[in-house]
Amino acid sequence: MKEILLRPVQLGDIRLANRIIMAPMTRDRAGPGDVPTDLMIEYYAQRASAGLIVTEGVQPSPAGKGYWRTPGIHSAAQVEGWRKVADAVHARGGRIVMQLMHCGRVVVPANRGYEADVIAPSAIACPVPVPGPDGTPVPCAEPRAIDAAEIPALIAEYAQAARNAIAAGMDGVELHCASGYLINQFLNPASNRRVDDYGGSAENRIRFPIAVLRGLADAIGAGRVGVRISPGNPYNGMDPADPAATFVPFLKAASALGLAYCHVVDMGLAEFDTLAMVRTHFAGPVIANNNLKPDTAAGLLADGRAEAVSFGRAFIANPDLVERIAASAPLAKPDYSLLYTGEERGYIDYPAITAGEPA
Ligand SMILES: Cc1cc2nc3c(=O)[nH]c(=O)nc-3n(C[C@H](O)[C@H](O)[C@H](O)COP(=O)(O)O)c2cc1C
Repeated sequence: MKEILLRPVQLGDIRLANRIIMAPMTRDRAGPGDVPTDLMIEYYAQRASAGLIVTEGVQPSPAGKGYWRTPGIHSAAQVEGWRKVADAVHARGGRIVMQLMHCGRVVVPANRGYEADVIAPSAIACPVPVPGPDGTPVPCAEPRAIDAAEIPALIAEYAQAARNAIAAGMDGVELHCASGYLINQFLNPASNRRVDDYGGSAENRIRFPIAVLRGLADAIGAGRVGVRISPGNPYNGMDPADPAATFVPFLKAASALGLAYCHVVDMGLAEFDTLAMVRTHFAGPVIANNNLKPDTAAGLLADGRAEAVSFGRAFIANPDLVERIAASAPLAKPDYSLLYTGEERGYIDYPAITAGEPA
């Protein structure tokens, strides 16, 4: 059964050697100037046998940064840093796309190391505390509401970030529309109380997200743009009620753009089948995620519910996850105390095993 995970697949313009994708994971190890470091190059290179790596969330602009030591893609030094990451992954035969993540209102200003506005669809603070520089959760900053006149510049910022990612050698970008960050803040009525064309009805709440996707597609080609959603996820103060009311029109509009893929964090909702909703309304390839094990993942592919699957936590402690799945080898467990601290520890020091040997 697991053989189905090892078959090649085409996602838009991107050809994958297998269907086992590394999910995006923030690891808080960028260097000064939010530039990728040598450790990050090594970390991603170690995981290059994934069919595709989706990078950690990367801020498209200074205002997009909310967490401690997250990398950016808006300066020349950041582009140079990411070029080394992309080159190292490609040298090992892998593929890599960059996740564009603008935090919107999910910001602790002390995490930034510089001054920048905190912006959101509406002036409503994220109700959930976020770790500050020492890891202790602190309240998020009060955002200011984005003026409608600023929206074209915001879209242009995303498009420039995508061009920068391609200039750095990335195979594409994934727009983070999940987990309560800026795009999700526009989609969700709890954070979007606007009374203009960008708020109110579902048609209005999807307007900015779809405009950003169109801007990315125009900048680098739709076949190199993926989208990530997590319908019904309450994370960061999102209202989980009635996700279909927003996501059905969103998926239809995203589908019309001819994107490379839709990456779905399936929350396992009781009220409806999220993967089935995506399949019905999104015409392109689907990547399924969340709490998958190799056998459940293979089952999703065998049943035609997704074209590929992604694993997050399993890739932390198993840099050679693909080889381990192929060999039915045991999987190592990550040390969760080192997710966001420890530099090389808990990051690049998880060993690969030779196929067939116990971990
Ligand atoms: C340490 C860590 C950091 C994460 N950072 C991101 C992120 O930057 N962007 C994102 O879309 N999801 C992020 N996620 C969510 C994962 O991509 C994934 O959806 C989640 O871990 C569930 O998949 P899993 O059960 O295979 O781990 C993160 C998860 C973890 C564990």
